[in-house]
This record gives sequence, structure tokens and C-alpha cells, in this order.
Amino acid sequence: MAFTIAIDGPAAAGKGTISKAVAAHYGFAHLDTGLLYRAVGKQVLTGTAAIEAAQNLRAEDLQADDLRTPEVAQAASKVAVIPEVRAALVDFQRVFARRSGGAVLDGRDIGTVICPDAEAKLFVTASAEIRADRRFRELVANGLRVDFETVLDDVRQRDARDMGRKDAPLRPADDAIQIDTSELSIDEAIATAIREIDARRAG
Ligand code: DC
Repeated sequence: MAFTIAIDGPAAAGKGTISKAVAAHYGFAHLDTGLLYRAVGKQVLTGTAAIEAAQNLRAEDLQADDLRTPEVAQAASKVAVIPEVRAALVDFQRVFARRSGGAVLDGRDIGTVICPDAEAKLFVTASAEIRADRRFRELVANGLRVDFETVLDDVRQRDARDMGRKDAPLRPADDAIQIDTSELSIDEAIATAIREIDARRAG
């Protein structure tokens, strides 16, 4: 039976970690929708037009191992402003969401635009400083040379762009459960998410 869990929130709030754990817990498939925008952003950095890149995106493009860099993240946030880019990516996400066996999608507009009828919606947040600190550690652990101020700037710029855009801006759906992970450990955040989703599944 299809059961869709929508997990939205700003960059580095813990969505990815929570989504993976939640998908594993329920045995659902997981789609990190940021990868779609990152794959388009990456192609734009190498000279392809954004709309063309979005319209021709293939599932294999999401597997590329260089989608996690700050440059690609910024490019993703920029192409995500373009309505034709967003439109080109809708069907893929909706088909994924309604697969039998259940799906977890994480992004910015899953609960509001892509899956407004999702059975469970979470909106995961944390302060910009804490998110930048987490992202900084992650990038350093992956061997990238970055400094904290640059990462904080990047987080703030992407927040402003993602929340300020006209088409599908980042915001919690009216029926989303908000989880602030600023003061939570990873395990606590995951446990909170599962508790809230269980309550929706029982209801
Ligand atoms: O989740 P992420 O950091 O990988 O996302 C990269 C960018 O892609 C983000 O800054 C905005 C855009 N994005 C979006 O507009 N809608 C989504 N559902 C997911 C990501």
C-alpha cells in the first residue's frame, strides 16, 4: 500500500539523516529530492541550460559522486528558482511517492507542492549556526577544504533564496509536524520523527 512521508526543511537541518533512518525503519524507499536540483545545478556549471538539463535528467545522474560540494549546492538553489525546472521534476517525484510499499521524500516543497496529500509530513529545522556547524564537519570529514564562515554564508544565502522564491518556497505545510533538531542528538531526532509518524499511521 502506498504511504508517503514528506520531510521538508532548510539545508543541513538533519532531513537527510532522519529520512534515511525513517525509510529504513519502515522499509520504505527514500528519495533525496535535493539531488534532482543538484544534478541540474551541476550540469549548469558545465554549460548546459537549466531547463534543458531538468527536462533530460536521468535517474543515473542522481548517482554522481560530486553532487555534495558547496558550489553544486549553490547552483542547485539557483536553478530551483526557475518554474520550468521545478515543473520538469514534478512527475518523477510524484511517481516515486506513490510507489507501493511506501516512500519517504525529503526536500523543500514535498508537503506543500509535490505531495500535499502525504500521509505524514515533517518540517525539520535548526538554527543557521548549528546547521552550518554540522555541514562544516560533514564537508571536512569528506576531505573538502572549507572554512566555517563560508559554510555559514552559504547556508544563509540558500535559506534566503529557498524561502524567498515565488514558486514553491520553503515553508511548512499547515499540517506538518515541526521538529527543531537544534538541541537533539541524531538518535533523539530520529526517535521523535518515528513517534510522530507512528501516530499518523495509527490514525
Ligand atoms: O536538500 P539540498 O541541500 O540537497 O538541496 C539543494 C537545493 O535544491 C536547495 O538549496 C533548494 C533546492 N531544492 C528545492 O528547491 N526543492 C526541493 N524539494 C529540494 C531541493
